[in-house]
Amino acid sequence: MNLAAAFFIEEDLSRTTNFRNMTTYETLIKHLKELHVLGSIGGIIGWDQETMMPPRGGELRAEQLAMLSSMCHERFTSNEIGDLLEALKAADESGELTEEQAVNVRETRRSYERDKKLPTDLVEELARTRSLAQQKWAEARKESDFKKFQPLLEKTVDLKKQVAELYGYEDDIYDALLDTYEPGMTVAQLDPMFAELRERTVKLVEAIVGTGTTSEVDALKRPHPLARQESFEREIAEAFGFDFDAGRLDLSAHPFCGGNAPNDVRMTTRRDENDPLSSLYSVMHETGHGLYGQGLEAKHSGTPMGSSISLGIHESQSRTWENLVGRSRQFWEFALPRFKAHFEGISEDLEFDEVCFAANEVKPSLIRVEADEVTYNLHIILRFEIERDLMNGRVEVKELPEIWNTRMQDYLGLTPPNDALGVMQDIHWSMGGIGYFPTYTLGNLYGAQFFEAVREALPDLDNQIVRGEFVPLREWLRKNIHCHGKRFSATDLIERVTGKPPSSEAFLNYMETKFGALYDL
Ligand code: CO
Repeated sequence: MNLAAAFFIEEDLSRTTNFRNMTTYETLIKHLKELHVLGSIGGIIGWDQETMMPPRGGELRAEQLAMLSSMCHERFTSNEIGDLLEALKAADESGELTEEQAVNVRETRRSYERDKKLPTDLVEELARTRSLAQQKWAEARKESDFKKFQPLLEKTVDLKKQVAELYGYEDDIYDALLDTYEPGMTVAQLDPMFAELRERTVKLVEAIVGTGTTSEVDALKRPHPLARQESFEREIAEAFGFDFDAGRLDLSAHPFCGGNAPNDVRMTTRRDENDPLSSLYSVMHETGHGLYGQGLEAKHSGTPMGSSISLGIHESQSRTWENLVGRSRQFWEFALPRFKAHFEGISEDLEFDEVCFAANEVKPSLIRVEADEVTYNLHIILRFEIERDLMNGRVEVKELPEIWNTRMQDYLGLTPPNDALGVMQDIHWSMGGIGYFPTYTLGNLYGAQFFEAVREALPDLDNQIVRGEFVPLREWLRKNIHCHGKRFSATDLIERVTGKPPSSEAFLNYMETKFGALYDL
């Protein structure tokens, strides 16, 4: 055999190997894309349930959603997917896959192995308990009777401990649950970040409350017709870069952003005639989520390369547009003349400083979803500490009302008058969503840290916002965050983009500077 022939054989062999792997890989992708199509139907009927469905449609809808979700689960955890992942293992380890292919294989394997760890009877028990606990929670909250909810919450915590043991963890049992929402994040990372944030925030809140400054802006308390609110919100969402040919804005009881693909993103809000800022900020928040959704690459839809990294990174995008942009003085320099034009004859006497203050006022309150930018994180830290201690057996469910009220007093200087306004205000625990809350505060921290990098990359950012030029910011977020899908973990992406590991420093600097100036501290 001459050299040339040998070379050709070699070449041929490697091509054959590659071809075989591509086929296996492409089969996996085909399965993932089909699963995505199936799951996206659930996304649309879930959205419909919150926005359009008549009340009596609920029973059938629950069956439709349950059937779709079990079909997806069955197909995803099938032996066929397992065999494909197994067959791709060697190619992955020997570096034969491209970087994008390797991401898809790695992340699919991660989800597959996690899903396989829970036996069917436990999954069913979890679903049954969730449905019962949600009903009980609603009932108990109405009567403000924690004792009624306690047994099912105890059961939920017990089941979640079983889940965590099956998932496995290295240091802290809570890590196993955190990993569902914020892959890779650990208590060891959160504890110091949140402790620092808590201490400095409590001090800042005390200083702010000590000034005794409050605002009541008459020009914002007047009726602002809902149709005009909507058209103003759309103008702002569009200015931020939301594409209404690839998304919608509708009404629901609780604002959310859902959707299935970059070309079909569904945002919702709720409006109050006498509080035009409330829905406006909800829409800016959901627009941040929506821009992330629209910024994912359509060609990767249904695969990890076309999916968001984590809830914390998702929330960093909503907080960027809602708070870092939307509550800035620069934003209102741009937006106030437009706001007045939309509400001609209603709020033309609104003063610039009044609206900036109203959009940023700090007021300790009992309810998390109504909290301002400063006190919000204290609500989250309180829940995180309780969840962590519950999972580690350091506290018991029956002690929660007392622990809750003591910490509300320590952190916010308030004691709830009853458990409905205290420990039972959120739906998450009844749904078994333990490990979810920290992602809200992580979103604030990540957002501020990214924004420092944005400021370095776009030195003219403030003037751009005043001029309503949001394209450079949106493109920066798209290029540095959105388009990567799950290529990096949250921590790796932050280090890569900002040069530093995740920390509370950027957020604390931002918050202390901004609110120090606003309250003349
Ligand atoms: Co959000």
